[in-house]
Amino acid sequence: MDFGMKNRLSRIFSPKTGKTVMLAVDHGYFQGPTTGLKDMKNITPLIPHADCLFVTRGILRNSIDPRIGTSVCLRVSGGPSILGELSHEDITTSMEEALRLNASGVGMSIFVGAKNEDRTIANLGRLVNEAERYGMPVLAITAVGKEMVRDARYLALACRIAAEIGAHFVKTYYCDDFHKVVEGCPVPIVIAGGKKIPEMDALLMTENAIKAGAKGVDMGRNIFQSDNPVGMLKAAKAIVHRGASAKEAFEIYKGSKKSATAEIERVDESMEKV
Ligand code: R5P
Repeated sequence: MDFGMKNRLSRIFSPKTGKTVMLAVDHGYFQGPTTGLKDMKNITPLIPHADCLFVTRGILRNSIDPRIGTSVCLRVSGGPSILGELSHEDITTSMEEALRLNASGVGMSIFVGAKNEDRTIANLGRLVNEAERYGMPVLAITAVGKEMVRDARYLALACRIAAEIGAHFVKTYYCDDFHKVVEGCPVPIVIAGGKKIPEMDALLMTENAIKAGAKGVDMGRNIFQSDNPVGMLKAAKAIVHRGASAKEAFEIYKGSKKSATAEIERVDESMEKV
């Protein structure tokens, strides 16, 4: 592995812990203005608390302050919307663009077992070929169609294929027996959060995934749809980087909710005095 590749990976995975808390805000690329991402300004206060931002070029160019210290992993695939056949995805963003945007990684979805699995897996191969010319890490995302069961057998198959084709790290969903998914995959795995669930459940899922060998999270809705997104990021970081339990992390989430509320009340009070 050359310097550029290692350097970029160290902007995603903390060199101290080897793990990462990525904030996924790419949902609009096929879902449109998702709840929590309608106004991308809401994301601004969250960014400093994440190790890496997973985002499309359109949002990066239009809604993100270029002076952020957080690294960027660029979603470079797309095509179909939620109204179409999702597995028809192709590569939408060039490597030149990823380099110009100073991305530390690029990510795309593969659809194992879906209509166009071969096309998406071949696309991953092409993306890896090109990315490696420039020392750019590739994240493969194992998208799961409605007809697929999110169990260890299926997810291990999808993650292993992604690694065999050359992905440098993989994003997948948490499931029972997750250690089996990790054991079969020779590159780091991060988990997506999936649909919004109660905060404690999302933190428990994170704890279980880390204990089973995941190297972090690339979480979206369970962060930005929470009533305290910064608190959830801090809580996830405590689990991922410090090995905190979900119970301990939940206290961090609750605590920073109180301090956020206190800050809002303080500002409201001082506004009343003006
Ligand atoms: C989905 O295809 C997107 O890549 C999301 O970034 C990913 O699912 C993570 O977001 P969430 O935690 O909301 O599932």
